[in-house]
Amino acid sequence: MYDRKKKIEELKKSIDMDKLPLHIAIIMDGNGRWAKKRFLPRTAGHKEGMERVKEIVEVASNIGIKYLSLYAFSTENWKRPKEEIDGLMKLLVYYLRVELKNLNKNNIKICTLGDITKLPEGPRKEVQYAVETTKHNDKMILNIALNYGGRDEIVGGIKNIVNDIKMGKIKVEDLDESVFSDYLYTKGQPDPDLLIRPSGELRLSNFMLYQIAYSEFWFSNIYWPDFREEHFYQAIVDYQKRDRRFGGI
Ligand code: IPE
Ligand code: IPE
Ligand code: MG
Repeated sequence: MYDRKKKIEELKKSIDMDKLPLHIAIIMDGNGRWAKKRFLPRTAGHKEGMERVKEIVEVASNIGIKYLSLYAFSTENWKRPKEEIDGLMKLLVYYLRVELKNLNKNNIKICTLGDITKLPEGPRKEVQYAVETTKHNDKMILNIALNYGGRDEIVGGIKNIVNDIKMGKIKVEDLDESVFSDYLYTKGQPDPDLLIRPSGELRLSNFMLYQIAYSEFWFSNIYWPDFREEHFYQAIVDYQKRDRRFGGI
C-alpha cells in the first residue's frame, strides 16, 4: 500500500537543510481544470487551491524557506468572467481573515507584488490590513502577487526612475542592476532560486520576468489543488541536484 506519510518523511529527510533555496516562487495554476475534471464549477477549484496555499505556506515556513512568492492574480486575469473574478476576490478576503492569526503565530510577514490600488475596495483593505498587521514578522516573507504582471512591474519601475531622475533624486550614471531592482515590487528581496509551475503549462505567464533571470524551473503536470507537501519537497530535492553555474563553468 502507498504510505504517504512515509514518503513525505523520506523526501523531507533527503533535503539538505543547509542548502535550501532562499526564495521560492510558485505559479499556482490548474484550478479550473482540476474542477472541470470533477464536473465542478471553476470556483470549486479555486477553493481547493486555497487549501493548498495554507498547506504550502505552513510547510515552507516550517522547513525554513525565507521568501515564498505566490502568483494569485495576474494583470491578464481581469479578462476572466466577472463571476470568476468576484469569486477569487472573495476567496482572497476569506483566506486573509481565516489565516491572519496563523500567519502571525508563525511569524510570517505578508507583502504584495502588483498594483493593488486596482483591486476592489473590500479585498484591497483586507490585504492592506494583513500587510500592516504582519509587518514586524520576520521568519518568512510571503509575497502574494495580486494584479501582478512582470511587464507592468518593469514599465512602472522605469516611470518611477525617470521621475526620480527629473527630481534629481538619482543620476542616469548611477543607474545599474542593483538600483533598478529597488524600483521593483521585490525591492530588497533576493531573486527566486526556484520557480515552480504545476498544471502542465510550460510558460511564465508574465511572472517575475526580471527576477527569474537565473532561477531554476520546476514544472509538473499536477494541478495546483493536487499540489501537496510531498510535491513541494520533491521540487526542492530536484533543485538541489541542479548545477547552477550563473554563466560560469
Ligand atoms: C490558477 O488556476 C488560478 C488563477 C489564475 C487565478 P486557473 O484558474 O488558471 O486554472 P486553469 O489553468 O484554467 O486550469
Ligand atoms: C498564471 O496562470 C496566473 C496565475 C497563476 C495567477 P494563467 O492561467 O492566468 O496563465 P495562462 O493564461 O495559462 O498563461
Ligand atoms: Mg490557468
